[in-house]
This record gives sequence, C-alpha cells and structure tokens, in this order.
Amino acid sequence: MKILQTIDELKTFRATLKGPVGLVPTMGALHNGHLSLIQQSCNENEHTIVSIFVNPTQFLAGEDFEKYPKKTEADIKICELCGVEALFMPDVQTMYTSLEPSILAPSSKSYILEGLARPGHFDGVLQVVLKLFHLSKPHRAYFGKKDAQQLYLIQNMVQTLFLDVQIIPCEIVREDDGLALSSRNVYLSNEQRSEALLISKSLKTATRAIIAGTRDIATIKHEMLLTLEPLHVEYVEILRRDFDTIETIDLGNTIILVCAKVGTTRLIDNLWI
Ligand code: PAF
Repeated sequence: MKILQTIDELKTFRATLKGPVGLVPTMGALHNGHLSLIQQSCNENEHTIVSIFVNPTQFLAGEDFEKYPKKTEADIKICELCGVEALFMPDVQTMYTSLEPSILAPSSKSYILEGLARPGHFDGVLQVVLKLFHLSKPHRAYFGKKDAQQLYLIQNMVQTLFLDVQIIPCEIVREDDGLALSSRNVYLSNEQRSEALLISKSLKTATRAIIAGTRDIATIKHEMLLTLEPLHVEYVEILRRDFDTIETIDLGNTIILVCAKVGTTRLIDNLWI
C-alpha cells in the first residue's frame, strides 16, 4: 500500500490507475464502520483510495479538532489488511492556503439539525470533500448513513455541481447492544456508554410504533422523547429524506434523526424508514 502525503504524489498515483476507483474519505481513528465502507469500496472497485485528514474547516472554535482521536499506526494496518491501494494522509498546509474560495452548503438544509449546533460545519465538509474528489477523481465515493445530513449535502453538491462521481450510502454499523459506531465513542466513560444506549433504544421505540401502525410524527417523537428522557436531547426529528418537513410517515422516504449529549459528547444516530 502506498502512503501519499502530497498533492503531486496523489496526482501521479491516480494517473497510473486504470479501471474503477473508489474513494473512502475519513478523518482516521478507523472503526468497524469505516471498515465496512472500505470493504465495500474494495469489493466494488478495482482500486481503493482512503483519505485520512482531520479537516480543520469543519470544526468550530472550541470543538475537539485538537484532541480528535488519532490512531495512525492502527489505521495504516487496517487499510493494508483490507487491500487498500493508497492512503492519502496530507497535512493542513497541503490541503489549504490562506486564500480559499468559499464553498457554502445550501443554508436551508445546512443550518438545521447538526448545522444549527455547528454553524458552518457543512461548508467545511463540502470544501474538503470537493478537494478530495478533484484530486482522486473517484468513480464512486463511500459515506456512512450515520452522518445522514452530511450524506444528503454531499449528494446535493454532486448533483448541483455536475460532479462525475457516484455517492454510495453505506449502512450504519452498530455494536451488539445497538450503539452506533463513532470515533467519538472513545470519549465515553462506561457509565456514559450505557446512557448512550438510550439513543438507539429511542429509534427502536419509533420502529415499534410504526410497525404498530402509528404514522403521526408528533406521536412518534413524543414516545421517543420519553425513552430519551434522562439524556440532554438536542433534537429528535422525523423528516423526508431530502430533509424537508413532513407530518406523517412516508414509508420508504423518511428519516428519523436523534442527537443527544452524553456528558460533553454529542452523539447522533438515525433510522431510514
Ligand atoms: O465524515 C467524516 O469523517 C468527515 O466529515 C469527512 C467526510 C471525511 C470530511 O472531512
């Protein structure tokens, strides 16, 4: 596996590739969720490039940019074992200059939910993802459904900027007890981890209500909030998959989103129905 750190190295490597290329953009601290994206890319493409870059422009002042978990050696091993052909690991100076054009995510969809708590976060995500697409020219790029709003905004960018890449949404990977995998789970103490299980439990509450025939959004949200009660809930939303509001469940085109703070850690989870 090649480890590439500069733009020239990546461009030169990319020029040697023939056949479909898959890109898996990550911020490192790889877990089984990332592993499933990487494995899917390796199965579906002749070549897989993984990027590891903790992107400063998507962090707000006071967030965990400086202490974002790093496991570089383990990440390299994981990528090697999965059959990744190249790992792109640039530093901040390689990716950014002091004169950057602004990339703005559409505000009606990027200043709600995650973007309400983290204004500008999605602008930074789109900025780096666009750069990674330009550099690695992938045929397919793999993103987890756990970051549903990010996935939607990236799909929207690809569509509106006529980018030639297919976005592949990948299923959320969970621990046996239901906790959605996240690099930030390492911040949780044992006690906090148990509390965090209420998040996936609230999605199960919603599933049960829907299976029982409930379609009214307000009723389902109410039941979910009862499950989540001990936690500091930031939002529970039930929206159409394009993040527009709905009043009743539209099966096959609905997404249920939860964000709660456990200690100082914000955790998100969702269910596509
Ligand atoms: O989901 C992430 O890990 C990041 O937001 C991404 C897509 C790698 C951009 O920095």
